[in-house]
Amino acid sequence: MAKVITIFNQAGGVGKTSLTMNLGYQLGQRKKQKVLLIDMDPQASLTIFMGVDPTEQEATVKDAILDKKALPILSEIHGMDLVPANILLSAAEMQLSSVLRRELRLKQAIDKVTDRYSFILIDSPPSLGMLSTLSLVAANYVLVPSQTQFKSIQGTNLVLQTIADVRDAIDHKLELAGVVPTIYAKGTLQDREALGVLESQLSAITKVYSPLPRSTAFPDASQERLPLAVFSPKHPAVTILKQIAKDLEKLP
Ligand SMILES: Nc1ncnc2c1ncn2[C@@H]1O[C@H](COP(=O)(O)OP(=O)(O)O)[C@@H](O)[C@H]1O
Ligand SMILES: [Mg+2]
Repeated sequence: MAKVITIFNQAGGVGKTSLTMNLGYQLGQRKKQKVLLIDMDPQASLTIFMGVDPTEQEATVKDAILDKKALPILSEIHGMDLVPANILLSAAEMQLSSVLRRELRLKQAIDKVTDRYSFILIDSPPSLGMLSTLSLVAANYVLVPSQTQFKSIQGTNLVLQTIADVRDAIDHKLELAGVVPTIYAKGTLQDREALGVLESQLSAITKVYSPLPRSTAFPDASQERLPLAVFSPKHPAVTILKQIAKDLEKLP
């Protein structure tokens, strides 16, 4: 049965989508691991980063959520499978408003494929609406990217509260898989102090991973529609991503 991990932070631009794709890639490179990525952001950055044109998709995650259709799975992109999204997903929120038990719709779609994967990673939208709720309710684990900036750290309290609220409302387990400090500029005092605060506040609650450095290789790799490890195999962030993947494999 797959471990379903939602990459969640209600803030935009903190590295959720980059982390989802790069971790998915690292997990997919490990022995016997089969990985599915699900794009739950109407802006479809994950779909685009994976080299898939959102506007050309006949079926997206929205059809599974709204019409209870099977998840439309695109196979074997950089060793991973992908359920794409596009802008039509933004209407799903409103269209779901009259649906009973709507928060279960993504979980129900995923339940039909969990036996085919070892990991299912869900990239969540930068908001606290219904699409985020669906993404969290569908998960067993939440991995939280947090930028090493003070405003981002304040945001992690809201992240943790949201996870706690969802956990109280569902009848399966939802655990924190850790916090990944992202876009870390080692050379700036601000980032070093913010990282220190992040570690001291959160390491009692969950694992705080080594920070992913700020580097143009991330946007450049995405621009080339490649995982970082393919775009720049010797990049130091690749070692950190590999370590996170290894730890995720050990989750119970
Ligand atoms: N470690 C990093 N260093 C520099 N830029 C990064 C890093 N991680 C992500 N980015 C860039 O920051 C922007 C936002 O990242 P993204 O993964 O789309 O975040 P989110 O999904 O949280 O909005 C993108 O342009 C991405 O390429
Ligand atoms: Mg994103």
